[in-house]
Formats: sequence, structure tokens, C-alpha cells
Amino acid sequence: MSKINLCVIATAKYKQFLPQFLESAERFFLKGHDVHYCIFTDFLEEACLFVLEKGIDREVTYYKVEHKPWPHATIKRFHFFLQYKENLPQADYLFYCDVDSRFVAPIGDEILGDLVAVQHCGFVGERGTYETRPQSMAYIPSNKGVMYFGGGFLGGENRTFWAACRELAQNIDIDESNGIIAIHNDESHWNKLLVDFPPTVTLSPSYHYPETPERATKWDRLGLSFEPKILLLNKDHAEIRNA
Ligand code: GAL
Ligand code: MN
Repeated sequence: MSKINLCVIATAKYKQFLPQFLESAERFFLKGHDVHYCIFTDFLEEACLFVLEKGIDREVTYYKVEHKPWPHATIKRFHFFLQYKENLPQADYLFYCDVDSRFVAPIGDEILGDLVAVQHCGFVGERGTYETRPQSMAYIPSNKGVMYFGGGFLGGENRTFWAACRELAQNIDIDESNGIIAIHNDESHWNKLLVDFPPTVTLSPSYHYPETPERATKWDRLGLSFEPKILLLNKDHAEIRNA
């Protein structure tokens, strides 16, 4: 049995996804392991109340972070983790998952590894949407990169996870000081890091599965199919991010 921290960010309107996220994690995420939910939020009381009401059995700790307009909540994720590095429970592995996700099938030891990434559901068999501007630290030249990874689920063994967070936060800071935001925010930086340090575990789009699987048609053409394990919930992006 390993000690696992599952980190999730739920600020502003994203808080509405937290109840179903935690309930589905209780059912499906690394059953048999010692999982601790680490919730980064801007409103501690409301979030705590939900967990008391619903009786989530695993341990939960809240970490207060500042909410600012989009894309702050996504691009500052590594900064949030680092801000509380010394306060998080000691863990063998740490994972991050987008709160607007739902675990729908058992997630087991197959996700445990040194550096864990998931293939983006939208770009199977394609190079994907890397950052192409050399001014950004997330830039990937056209002769590099073979697979596009989704930013919505990632993780790794303790030391590797923290080394990755430091590297990513630093690159995002450098971009910020140069007045540039990578095309897909943290996801672009994550992809750049994985070009330099390939993941030891590459999860299939089962772990990055659109709730409305219109993209599955692309998979069909390639003769591929995946079972949903982590659903990416449909939402009105503009509405949710408008806070
Ligand atoms: C979209 C997704 C974004 C980003 C983008 C990459 O489908 O909603 O979060 O991953 O693909 O091109
Ligand atoms: Mn998402």
C-alpha cells in the first residue's frame, strides 16, 4: 500500500464540480491505497462543509489559494502545490487531476510510476498543439515531440513530481516575465517537459476521455477504441471561467 496525494484545484465556479469529483474518487481512485485528497481552494468553509455533509471517508486537507481571472487557476497550479509543499502529507506518489473530471472505472496500480502522463484524447496519432513560438519556454521545435499529452491528469513519484513542479513553475515564471502565455497554458509547459524527460508511464486516452465522445470517431478511423476511466466533463468553458 502506497501513500498517495491526489491534488485538485477548485476555485470560484469550479467548486461546483468538487462533490462529484470526490465521490467518484472514493469509488474508483486507487482503492487499497492510502489516498489523501489535497484540495486547493479559495473558500475553505464552503468546501469543508460539503465533505462533512457527504462523509468522504478518506482524509481531506484544504489549502487556501488566491483566485484570479482565467487562466490563473490553471497556469499557477504548480505554484499552488509548491506553496504548500511542506504542509502536504508525506506521500510516495502525487497526482493532480482536473476537478471537472469524473472517475468512472477502477484506476489502479497501472498509474503508479516515476513520471506519469496521459495521451490527449483529441490528438491520437497526431503531433498535437504544441507551443510553436520560440519566445516561450514551452516552445517545441518541429523536429521534436511525438505525442501530445493532456494537462488534466498527471503525476509521479514524490521526488520526480516535485522536481517537475519546480521546473514547470520556473518556466511559467520566465514566460510571465517576458509577457508571454503559452498557447495551452500549463499543458504546453507540461508537454515541453515531457519532450526533455519522457514519461515512464504513458496512460491511454481512457484517462482523458471526453464525456461526449465525438472524438472517438477519430479513434475509429485509426482502428482504436478506449474504455472510459477518467471522463472530462462537458461544460460551458466561457461561463465557468468567467469569474
Ligand atoms: C482542447 C482542450 C484544451 C486543450 C486543447 C489542446 O480540446 O479543451 O484544454 O487540451 O484541446 O489543443
Ligand atoms: Mn478540464
